[in-house]
Amino acid sequence: MSAALFEPYTLRSLTVPNRVWMAPMCQYSAEVFGPNAGVAGDWHLAHYGSRATGGAGLILVEATAVAPEGRISPADLGLWNDTQTEGLRRIASFVKAQGAVPGIQIAHAGRKAATQRPWLGRGPAPAEERWQPVAPSAVPFDEHHPVPTELTEDGIREVVGQFADAARRALAAGFEVVEVHGAHGYLIGEFLSPHSNRRTDAYGGSFENRTRLALEVVDAVRAVWPEELPVFFRISATDWLEEAGWTADETVRFAALLREHGVDLLDVSTGGNGGPARIPVGPGYQVPFAARVKAETGLPVAAVGLITESAQAEKILANGEADAVLLGRELLRDASWPRRAARELGAAVSAPPQYAWAI
Ligand SMILES: Cc1cc2nc3c(=O)[nH]c(=O)nc-3n(C[C@H](O)[C@H](O)[C@H](O)COP(=O)(O)O)c2cc1C
Repeated sequence: MSAALFEPYTLRSLTVPNRVWMAPMCQYSAEVFGPNAGVAGDWHLAHYGSRATGGAGLILVEATAVAPEGRISPADLGLWNDTQTEGLRRIASFVKAQGAVPGIQIAHAGRKAATQRPWLGRGPAPAEERWQPVAPSAVPFDEHHPVPTELTEDGIREVVGQFADAARRALAAGFEVVEVHGAHGYLIGEFLSPHSNRRTDAYGGSFENRTRLALEVVDAVRAVWPEELPVFFRISATDWLEEAGWTADETVRFAALLREHGVDLLDVSTGGNGGPARIPVGPGYQVPFAARVKAETGLPVAAVGLITESAQAEKILANGEADAVLLGRELLRDASWPRRAARELGAAVSAPPQYAWAI
């Protein structure tokens, strides 16, 4: 018996061995100061490595900051210097050696930067570790976040360059997929949404202006990323706001533009930009947004969010709602979920030879 979940998937010249992929998840576990600041260490290697041995076809390494001020927490991974490239090289190389595809999400946290590691509480990082965040407009995310500094046009140009430099380093580290983080109310998503973007220059106001930074970043990343390798973009398809938020209609319109600009797959999430959002969280609740983008634009999509059961994941693919599924928390619970799903679906189960006794 075969399962759609375990069919290979080819984008450009890259073939991913199956359609069960690991969603990017911040570990907030890098050193904060010194020569190893933002460098992936033993935790990161064990964490990503075990999901690769567990059978995920593509590992998307967590939001990795393109600049120090673009970190969510002080302990985030970074890709703004060459020591950080070297730390990530071990992960890309190990993931690849397991037959999985190494990918990485590059990110700038914008107005949601400089927060405490989540398990140490809400709110800003301790004074000695924090910095002043930047954003499209001087509007705070909520009462736990500071008022950010509005980026100048020079500042915007610098950010675009930082994304390109980070992509170049990701490639040098051995990654085969780069994902631009445009979701969850971080910098690029903040520009997209009229809820957080109140600018009156060429980067605010109309749909064309709000999407300008995202497309400039995509162009800059595409220019340094090889033709034969795919670029992903993660979006929040809706802010879930009744007024003045980014909408699913805008996502569809924007997806068509992303496709023209060389994005190969849209990773469709939702929310995260604050305001009085009402989110109907439940199993697969974001899948319809991915399905709509795929149906209306033809752009390949990955679905994410409370996908936890093998039959559920298989149905999403078999129905043509998405080209792949991304699992987050379920892969934290069970690193070998893909192998379990293959067993449950009656598909051929592959494992590293060291684990062949336990198939
Ligand atoms: C601990 C944790 C860290 C996360 N970090 C990121 C991140 O770095 N980038 C991102 O786009 N989403 C991040 N997310 C969101 C996940 O990628 C995913 O979209 C979300 O958890 C929903 O999927 P799930 O229900 O399978 O967990 C994070 C989620 C968790 C639980």
